Amino acid sequence: MALLEIRKVTRRFGSYTAVDNVSISVETGEFFTLLGPSGCGKTTLLRMIAGFDMPDSGQILLDGEDMMGTPPEKRPVHTVFQTYALFPHMTVSDNISFPLKMAGNTPRDIQSRVMEALDNVRLSNFGNRFPHELSGGQKQRVAFARGLVNRPRLLLLDEPLGALDAKLREEMQIELINLQKNVGVTFVFVTHAQNEALALSHRIAVMNQGNVEQVDEPSKIYGFPRNRFVADFIGKISMINALVVETTPSHLKLDIAELGEVTTISKEGIKVGDKGVMAIRPEQVRISHPSDEVVLKNHFLGTVHDLLYVGDVTTYIVELANGAHIKALLPNSAPGRAKFFEVGDRVGVSWRQDAGIFLND
Ligand SMILES: Nc1ncnc2c1ncn2[C@@H]1O[C@H](COP(=O)(O)OP(=O)(O)O)[C@@H](O)[C@H]1O
Ligand SMILES: [Mg+2]
Repeated sequence: MALLEIRKVTRRFGSYTAVDNVSISVETGEFFTLLGPSGCGKTTLLRMIAGFDMPDSGQILLDGEDMMGTPPEKRPVHTVFQTYALFPHMTVSDNISFPLKMAGNTPRDIQSRVMEALDNVRLSNFGNRFPHELSGGQKQRVAFARGLVNRPRLLLLDEPLGALDAKLREEMQIELINLQKNVGVTFVFVTHAQNEALALSHRIAVMNQGNVEQVDEPSKIYGFPRNRFVADFIGKISMINALVVETTPSHLKLDIAELGEVTTISKEGIKVGDKGVMAIRPEQVRISHPSDEVVLKNHFLGTVHDLLYVGDVTTYIVELANGAHIKALLPNSAPGRAKFFEVGDRVGVSWRQDAGIFLND
């Protein structure tokens, strides 16, 4: 049985549907992420799981028990927010022990649990400090410790790393992965940052305008996005209009107008005559000198239209004969070398037959 089951949950604000008939199951021990652009309904869904808000229809079950009518403080759930929400006049230890005192634990029990919680977030020597004596990352670790000290069945985290700068954010991501692994508590994590979701999660639910578009492991979400929204929201991808001209159990043959035929992996439910796009990730596209011999079957000539150097890699945007643009990514593996091709260069682009996917919705 799933630890958390969200069954056909809808929440409306006036005529606006913030969460639209959403169904999700989260297993015990999972690091599960709700990912989507700002305003897609992530916080609204999280607030209903926590009990701060109620669905207009549908059910939320924890351990098989309907949570309707159970107030937030009676649910085995704790929420960590982006804004830490620490008590400024209390020490770190007192902040962490607060939920235990509220629950009426004995002083001895409280002390040992607070020590354990501090140890979990590597802040054993910080118990006597006040929040203003901590860095942003340390404050957020105290908030995690406070969230876990009550041993909730489920920890809800609403964009908890949103206030941190990029470098600290990456450190905290690694910290969160280890924390979740060590304490074994099920996490439902909310973010609008696709790279964060890919890095942290066992599974991701991609949300769009109150709907769930796809629930899958990160590598499936990235490699086999179900539709154009997911493909476009996660990572970088080129999409070129295409028409299905042949289907086999393993492959699809697509016609790209004024360019030629490409082969992609097969897809269920697709038939000859279907219109959509051929979608391909930049790192799957090889770029070569026009005279180089290319063994890959999907192979076209084009012109470098733009390039974007970001240090470790350069993205080349290549214009094909029909005017479509395709992105190719090259690692800058030679020191001091920023680009292998210049804008205006004639180049070849090619990719494996199993690298592209066909998307028709
Ligand atoms: N209490 C509320 N009253 C009216 N509209 C709300 C309320 N809470 C959220 N919304 C609207 O519902 C939509 C989803 O909001 P939210 O769940 O906060 O999105 P996210 O967390 O994904 O950014 C937004 O358009 C927001 O303006
Ligand atoms: Mg939000």
